[in-house]
Amino acid sequence: MDEQSQPLHERGGNRSQRPTSEAFKRFVAEQWGPRPETLPTVAAVAPFAAARRTAIGARFPGDRLVVAAGALKVRSNDTDYRFRPHSAFAHLTGLDTDREPDAVLVLHPVVHRGGGPSDGDDSGNDGAPSHEAVLYFRPRAERDSEEFYADSRYGELWVGVRPSLEEIEAELDLRCAHIDELGDALRKDVGDGGVRLRVVRDADDTVTAEVDEARPTGDPDDEGEVQDAAVTLDAELTEALSELRLVKDEWEIEQMRAAVAASVAGFEAIVRALPEAVAHHRGERVVETTFAQIARREGNGTGYDTIAAAGNHANTLHWIRNDGSVRTGELVLVDAGVEVDSLYSADITRTLPVDGTFTDAQRQVYDTVCEAADAAFAQARPGTRFRDVHLAAMRVIATRLAEWGMLPVSAEESLDREQGEQHRRWMVHGTSHHLGIDVHDCAQARREMYLDAELEPGMVFTIEPGLYFRADDLAVPEHLRGIGVRIEDDVLVTSDGCENLSAGLPRLSHDVESWMAALTR
Ligand code: GLY
Ligand code: MN
Ligand code: MN
Repeated sequence: MDEQSQPLHERGGNRSQRPTSEAFKRFVAEQWGPRPETLPTVAAVAPFAAARRTAIGARFPGDRLVVAAGALKVRSNDTDYRFRPHSAFAHLTGLDTDREPDAVLVLHPVVHRGGGPSDGDDSGNDGAPSHEAVLYFRPRAERDSEEFYADSRYGELWVGVRPSLEEIEAELDLRCAHIDELGDALRKDVGDGGVRLRVVRDADDTVTAEVDEARPTGDPDDEGEVQDAAVTLDAELTEALSELRLVKDEWEIEQMRAAVAASVAGFEAIVRALPEAVAHHRGERVVETTFAQIARREGNGTGYDTIAAAGNHANTLHWIRNDGSVRTGELVLVDAGVEVDSLYSADITRTLPVDGTFTDAQRQVYDTVCEAADAAFAQARPGTRFRDVHLAAMRVIATRLAEWGMLPVSAEESLDREQGEQHRRWMVHGTSHHLGIDVHDCAQARREMYLDAELEPGMVFTIEPGLYFRADDLAVPEHLRGIGVRIEDDVLVTSDGCENLSAGLPRLSHDVESWMAALTR
């Protein structure tokens, strides 16, 4: 076949110079000692992950629950992104950082002797569990296989030591099976056998298609209805998995503390790097990469794209290009969080005066945002509705904006959700969101479990009011234009109030100034 007629999809191999001789294959398979490295272990999380699996199983008695880790995602051409497992999978297995592409966790309903599937009480009527968890994955291929040296995605010569079934079984205290067994396992007892399938649809398209394939088809005329019903079953699973994460267990709280501690170190490094940022033509990148260095050294990386927004850029809520300069006399808003290896992330914002001292106008805005945050903190305790934390912050914001003559109505009128909300022009985002494995954690929870729910001990969320006065906003007094401030902390609800997990970073304007002075002395 000449070059012109070779199909495009086959051309990726044209640059391959991989050895193919039989002599090479024999030689590469020989003379290997025991693997020198032991894989890092997540065994400490195993009992917590088991409890989470028990809790989700109890919600869906008799159903087979399928939660995939996801597949490697192509970044471009033949280059993948670094792997990150689906959050629900990480939560239910405890597997962290880049583990384990293509793996699938299945909770099989346990059929009790003399009856159908257990009644769903997680310990069952007879103390038996409702489900048996099995992790299906692709174990390492041994050194005499072609995969070992020729597979750039999975071969140990390319990606390092990979686990066997037995190793993950021991680590997670969970039965493991080869991924090739997944298809049969999904189909077992489905339909007339009484087992119903539910899958987290967005985790892995191939697995979702396999589950759909395994579902009973029914009358071809009703195909649409059958599919709609399946999507509803799946949505209920996704929703329940999201709600399962609303209250963090002891191990998760420890991870959040570690994520926050590393983030505090990142913000301290930023303060020390501010002179370098001022001197650089893309000072915002100096800020971003200073944090990224700590995040990658101390954790898995950043939990989301850092916002390093100097001057008027702070008024672009998702400013992640970070290619501007950092100028003395201005503020720089930094929203950044370290994600630790377990994938739990902090989410912290500090707005810093670049030269260490707030101007009067900057302090006026900053202190008001801080006052709004204080009002939100005062509400953060068991029994308060989640939405009331936001409303407390908004009352301060609306009151101050009215005093400054910026509202066309009174503060009370502006606080009327149906008729007012003019103050939201300058803070269009919410004050709080749950935080955990996802920076916007529990996002598929029902409204009554999220905004309308009462706070409970173990919940972790942000308090992050802000005020954003764009340089071109003619409704803002001239001396305040171009100033953008957000203060964001991570909060744990305790039995009688809350703990500010990010209290290691000062919040009050004077404390920020003394802290910056001490770090740069
Ligand atoms: N950094 C994203 C947020 O604050 O929600
Ligand atoms: Mn946030
Ligand atoms: Mn944030």
